Amino acid sequence: MNFQLTEEHLAVREAAREFAQSELLPGVIDRDTEAKFPTEQIRKMGELGFMGMMTDPKYNGGGMDTLSYVLAMEELSKVDASASVSMSVNNSLVLWGLEKYGSDAQKEKYIPKLATGELIGAFCLSEPEAGSDATSQRTTAELNGDHYLLNGTKNWITNGNTASIYLVIAQTDPSKGHKGISVFIVEKGWEGFVIGKKEDKLGIRGSDTHSLMFTDVKVPVENRIGAEGFGFTFAMETLNGGRIGIAAQALGIAAGAYELALAYSKERKAFGKPISQHQAIQFKLADMATQIEAARLLVYKAAWLKDQGEDYAHASAMAKLYASEVAMNVTVEAVQVHGGYGYVKEYHVERLMRDAKITQIYEGTSEIQKIVISRGVLK
Ligand code: CAA
Repeated sequence: MNFQLTEEHLAVREAAREFAQSELLPGVIDRDTEAKFPTEQIRKMGELGFMGMMTDPKYNGGGMDTLSYVLAMEELSKVDASASVSMSVNNSLVLWGLEKYGSDAQKEKYIPKLATGELIGAFCLSEPEAGSDATSQRTTAELNGDHYLLNGTKNWITNGNTASIYLVIAQTDPSKGHKGISVFIVEKGWEGFVIGKKEDKLGIRGSDTHSLMFTDVKVPVENRIGAEGFGFTFAMETLNGGRIGIAAQALGIAAGAYELALAYSKERKAFGKPISQHQAIQFKLADMATQIEAARLLVYKAAWLKDQGEDYAHASAMAKLYASEVAMNVTVEAVQVHGGYGYVKEYHVERLMRDAKITQIYEGTSEIQKIVISRGVLK
């Protein structure tokens, strides 16, 4: 067992921390208020290699391990979870799936621009009636000669309008249930592909979340990833890794709120001394620090297992379940430590509290993580 980060890991963490402070922090409150996507910031993140951290360098990626990605996610999420979710989806849902299961032609065509952030990707599984119950896909793709005709609606798609490349899950043979689900690469601008309304959200308001409509969209057969019927396995395996990214995001949100609360508690005076000298606040800080450390160990372990080539499905579900709970608890407490100041935007913790909530919902709700974990426990 080795709890020490390598020089490379420390350098990645430092670079992400520096970027978050210098590039994400200015303007983060306005982007949240105006629900404005961090376009320029994401472009710079692409230039610095954050959008394709784990991708093979031969496709313009960073060739780094999952732990490096987690460290960067943690630091960026301390400041701007809207920017970090865009990065997470691009890295672990889109690029990982394409690189692992795409054909050589698909990889050469799509990965290099996605890995540098020149193009952004989106992962389209959820539907109006298929959120947690992901096998109930209503979107269909019907084979018609050398192409499929794609019809249906996808909901709550991260990077919905910003993306250019969409991995779309659809039924190709409804009689086979989840074994009749396939996955396709769809490009923005194809006829019949309409981007629906942008969601007005509680948190991660800078993130670009849309519904998508497909009406007889012609998708070439060569844009199917893997065989027909492989789509559900693709989605599940991709989400196993994606959940490590969201767990790291939750950890970062918690750690960001804690750091603000700690600093504030040393400055703010009440009853003649800094509030950090009152046991009521000290106990809150102790609980926050302990929960964050426990979450960190789970998240880093899930990343480590993935890097070792071990099974990480249950570890990633545990990490996401726990880190997202910690994110919620810690951000609520960070607002409490700030008192009235915590309830206004200027102090950042109210935004982090709103941002924390989504980590218990997307890439599988906490209840879904418990299904995944309990199945592993009972196996
Ligand atoms: N890893 C690998 N395979 C898995 C898996 C996992 N974690 N979970 C299920 N599977 C496989 C099963 O082994 C099974 O395969 P076989 O039939 O070959 O044995 C198949 O998938 C179907 O599984 P179940 O029979 O268990 O199906 P179910 O309907 O009972 O449960 C579920 C499936 C686990 C609940 C699944 O529907 C699920 O994970 N739901 C949540 C979906 C989700 O996470 N959505 C997030 C949307 S994406 C998003 O949020 C991105 C974003 O923008 C931020």
